Amino acid sequence: SPSDPDLVERARAAKEKLGDKVFVLGHHYQRDEVIQFADVTGDSFKLARDAAAKPSAEYIVFCGVHFMAESADILTGDEQKVVLPDLAAGCSMADMATAEQVAECWDVLTEAGVADQVVPVSYMNSSADIKAFTGKHGGTICTSSNAERALNWAFEQGEKVLFLPDQHLGRNTAVRDMGMSLDDCVLYNPHKPNGGLTVEQLRAAKMILWRGHCSVHGRFSLESVEDVRARIPGVNVLVHPECRHEVVAAADHVGSTEYIINTLEAAPAGSKWAIGTELNLVRRLANRFADQDKEIVFLDKTVCFCSTMNRIDLPHLVWTLESLAEGNLVNQIQVDKETESFAKLALERMLALP
Ligand code: 13P
Ligand code: SF4
Repeated sequence: SPSDPDLVERARAAKEKLGDKVFVLGHHYQRDEVIQFADVTGDSFKLARDAAAKPSAEYIVFCGVHFMAESADILTGDEQKVVLPDLAAGCSMADMATAEQVAECWDVLTEAGVADQVVPVSYMNSSADIKAFTGKHGGTICTSSNAERALNWAFEQGEKVLFLPDQHLGRNTAVRDMGMSLDDCVLYNPHKPNGGLTVEQLRAAKMILWRGHCSVHGRFSLESVEDVRARIPGVNVLVHPECRHEVVAAADHVGSTEYIINTLEAAPAGSKWAIGTELNLVRRLANRFADQDKEIVFLDKTVCFCSTMNRIDLPHLVWTLESLAEGNLVNQIQVDKETESFAKLALERMLALP
């Protein structure tokens, strides 16, 4: 079983043997059995910022998903090797924007005569190729904790933003946080000719949103919000900005995983919270704050794990740490030099945002 005391002991022993040679990063959506071995936990911004925090470590074991490990590789030097304990831990949202599709989109924008007004802003949840495209075209990366600052920066560089791949984070930030209207946004569908948009629509739009989404956060609906408000009077609804616009509009608080944790830490005893994000995190928070008399429930009635985050489990972590301790470099994530240089430009623009 994953919480097998034998596996826990093996992970501990391998990590101890590696000592300063290993640095384990854990995203907040990771399982408890994995997160207990993380040297640093965080949202995707914090993990990108902290990836290079321990330059003496030869190995960075990234307990998260593929795009996060790629970003860590881009932001660290060649002497540090980034390892993903299960190579199948991808992100279905990141897969919704391929390099070919994005190049084709840029051609559509060029033909419509708007490309020179467009600044790309790409969500961290994208491949290194998309980050490189973004850097090459003068754009920045953002995460759910700095999307508004990234958009403000982008609108200082140009009149329009191509936001990809998460339509919801783009729309929610533009409309909820920046006061744009839904009519300022158009949806670019990579599966349709010209994205399914007319030249007039592209010329009028301020935000060109890529038609991508997170299937985990897509499960929350306006009905989930209404249900929980009826069930728990006085409940505070706190959701991740990857949720659909109507969910975010009906919520009381919206923010990244780190923001969700900080908000609950600061919440008064006796307060009640319904959380719209991945279930490993919500369960951990419910347990952690139970003795402080904070009632924390999952926003939806159905179970909602991120299946790819969950691929990193204790057996994979044990295998990874034991392999590294024996000197076998397994599951290295390595971005090629050309991609890395442009992707780094975009990531560094994000890290430099005011
Ligand atoms: P955070 O940056 O808020 O941790 O979100 C990452 C993610 O993948 C959410 O689905
Ligand atoms: Fe990707 Fe959604 Fe999983 Fe986050 S929760 S890693 S966006 S699939």
